[in-house]
Amino acid sequence: RVGKSLVVAIDGPSGSGKSSVSREVARRLRAAYLDTGAMYRAVTLHCMRTGIDLTDSPAVEAATRSIDLVISISPDRESVLIAGTDVTSAIREPEVSSAVSAVATTMGARAELIRRQRALIAGAAHRIVAEGRDITTVVAPDAEVRVLLTASEEARLRRRGDQLGGTQTAAQLKRQVTERDAKDSTAADFTQAADGVVTLDSSELDFEQTVAALLTIVRSVAN
Ligand code: DC
Repeated sequence: RVGKSLVVAIDGPSGSGKSSVSREVARRLRAAYLDTGAMYRAVTLHCMRTGIDLTDSPAVEAATRSIDLVISISPDRESVLIAGTDVTSAIREPEVSSAVSAVATTMGARAELIRRQRALIAGAAHRIVAEGRDITTVVAPDAEVRVLLTASEEARLRRRGDQLGGTQTAAQLKRQVTERDAKDSTAADFTQAADGVVTLDSSELDFEQTVAALLTIVRSVAN
């Protein structure tokens, strides 16, 4: 069995199935769940709605420092609020997805979000599964369990396509998955597992198999 206090850090590229798998693993472990990508998305949406130029790094950094952002860490309740306004679905809109790299590559914004993420992880009572791009390396390098969830480009494009209901052309998907990862990986390298990080390749695994494999890693490392 898994001990009482536990941090599970999961990184990976988009389309690796990271969010849905991490959320389910958190449920099974009766752990909290933190989707750090949602925080980058929320800052992006906030800038777009308040007319902040996403290429103006000092302005984006200032907005990140001052944003009133509340994110649920319950795996059963997905909720993101900006100044009390529910933006849970708005942050998933394609306009946000295509703009979010600007925030992810603004180092001052990253520093502030990393600080908030560490506080959320420290404040989680027992166990927490936190996922993103730099959790295993920067946000929680001391986590008991650190996993890089990867998948072949082909598998990632297929999954993101299914997620979006098959409405995207191959070129659109490639832009959203491959090109975004190329941009994002300049700010946080999630293309290779850091020292002590276990790589789990989900290319040939379905959802349930990936969850099971992750739970096996958690149990082997956390015992
Ligand atoms: O996982 P996602 O697609 O919701 O992530 C949104 C963006 O935030 C993506 O461009 C990568 C970035 N991100 C990051 O740079 N660091 C994290 N820990 C999480 C997400």
